[in-house]
Amino acid sequence: MLTTDLVRLKELGTPIIVLTAWDAISASIVEASGADVVLVGDSLGMVVLGHTTTLPVTIDQIIHHTQAVCRGFSKPLAKQPLVIADLPFLSYQCGEDKAVEAAGSILKNSCASGVKIEGAEPETLLVIERFVRMGIPVMGHLGLTPQSVHLLGYKSQARDKESQGKIFQDSKKLQSSGCFAIVLEHIPEEIAGQIKKNLKIPVIGIGAGNQCDGQVRVTADLLGLSNKQPPFAKPLISGRELCINALKSWVQKHQRNEQNPTT
Ligand code: KIV
Repeated sequence: MLTTDLVRLKELGTPIIVLTAWDAISASIVEASGADVVLVGDSLGMVVLGHTTTLPVTIDQIIHHTQAVCRGFSKPLAKQPLVIADLPFLSYQCGEDKAVEAAGSILKNSCASGVKIEGAEPETLLVIERFVRMGIPVMGHLGLTPQSVHLLGYKSQARDKESQGKIFQDSKKLQSSGCFAIVLEHIPEEIAGQIKKNLKIPVIGIGAGNQCDGQVRVTADLLGLSNKQPPFAKPLISGRELCINALKSWVQKHQRNEQNPTT
């Protein structure tokens, strides 16, 4: 799967499915699920590394986890999901050269085919344009942008007319700057639907209703593994509880020192 294939999926009206992965085992599960794209999101800072925000994540951690994800795939290369990695906080805000070095190092050292970047500030748009000129595909991210948590919180975005107008304009700017797709996080469904209709590039939603060209989810949230679920991510199973119960019964069986335990 190539980044350009996603535009074709949008044109065909085929929903695009993006799931996060953070290591080889999660990548192998996500690959087997049939997802089109694996996102090595900086949510790994919270889900895997135990931070309270995504801000501490470093470029080296993203590369380390993306490499593990790439090693987890077992299908032939052409059938593997497209891998996109997040550019963490401060890896693209300190000048275009540093940003190219950060994004380039992800592509150079892993199987990722592109990067995701938050926001559409003028400096960010310049970075995106430079990436595209350098051959680095970029996915945009608007709405709830977790790297701006200290400014916006984890609240839903684009609630009033002014911010709805802004997100609409920002999405068009991201398209003109060369993004191959954008993520819209935690915004009203109608606004996401309007943005999707007005863009040629795919719009992938999370907490943005069902009118987008596709959906992205944090895999740990879908599996119910996280301690704290975001309000818009309903777990499919109670993974945490299932794992704890399975391990508990194994631990208890061995604590009783049962004869010939089968596992
Ligand atoms: O970091 C992440 O996992 C993300 C998704 C929530 C879109 O950015």
